[in-house]
Amino acid sequence: MLVTGKEILDHAHEHGYAVGAFNVNNMEIVQAIINAAEETNSPVIMQASQGALKYAGVEYISAMVKVAAEKAKVPVALHLDHGTNFEQIIMCIRNGFTSVMIDASKHELDKNIEITKNIVGIAHAAGVSVEAEIGKIGGTEDDITVDEKEATFTDPDEAEKLVKETGLDSLAIAVGTAHGPYKGEPKLDFDRITTIKERLNIPLVLHGSSGVPEESIKKAVERGINKINIDTDIRMSFNEAVRKFANENPDIYDPRKLLGPGREAAKNIIADKMRMFGSAGKAWR
Ligand code: G3H
Ligand code: 13P
Ligand code: ZN
Repeated sequence: MLVTGKEILDHAHEHGYAVGAFNVNNMEIVQAIINAAEETNSPVIMQASQGALKYAGVEYISAMVKVAAEKAKVPVALHLDHGTNFEQIIMCIRNGFTSVMIDASKHELDKNIEITKNIVGIAHAAGVSVEAEIGKIGGTEDDITVDEKEATFTDPDEAEKLVKETGLDSLAIAVGTAHGPYKGEPKLDFDRITTIKERLNIPLVLHGSSGVPEESIKKAVERGINKINIDTDIRMSFNEAVRKFANENPDIYDPRKLLGPGREAAKNIIADKMRMFGSAGKAWR
């Protein structure tokens, strides 16, 4: 069933595990995620980026996820990933999203507070949950040194101020991960997660989690991460399976036969992540 992001993340926060938030762009990925969630009896968040909304259209994304959620026995939230645009956030709320992210992290603290507070007021009035971000998560392609990188990590004082002044529901923090494939092994600042968790006592979100080793993921969850965003690992497993099938079967042109192996491969890695994050078996209704 479809529930709010807050309901899912408060349960994870209370019980000390993390829920996977998987990016959706088409029907096969929606089905891969819901099948993995049912297989592992896991609550799940399906999220659409601005790029996904541009590719598939907000109505298609919303309709596909709602059908998946209605048919499923596990709790499902529909979330806007990295929302930066006021009109688009309103459009998602009107289309039945149960959670939105307002990413004003590129702004200075005061501006971030102002923008986030405005979205929290509107979203909460509509019964929709809000994730915000502070610190700079960035991409793996950003060629910066370790010192420069640490300077972009979330400052606990700033995080506390953002939470207190806006009433947001969950917070994305910068602690050493980056979006996209990693060149080397990412080094996470686990003590920073602990400090922020102790100070805020709210659900925390880890972005750029594809390619982060299992041991680091588990440690991050122990320290207080409750939502783990995965996109690149889904893309890679889908791509690999589709290419392999197409190469081995050059005469097949039926899209169902070509994309089916991608859906199956994505389902398998998503189910593995759910077990790794500790959400397997945690569906409470
Ligand atoms: O955080 C970014 C997600 O991986 C979405 O990527 O903007 O290419 O859809 P995208
Ligand atoms: P990855 O693509 O690195 O998994 O990041 C996903 C993400 O953070 C979506 O917001
Ligand atoms: Zn992200």
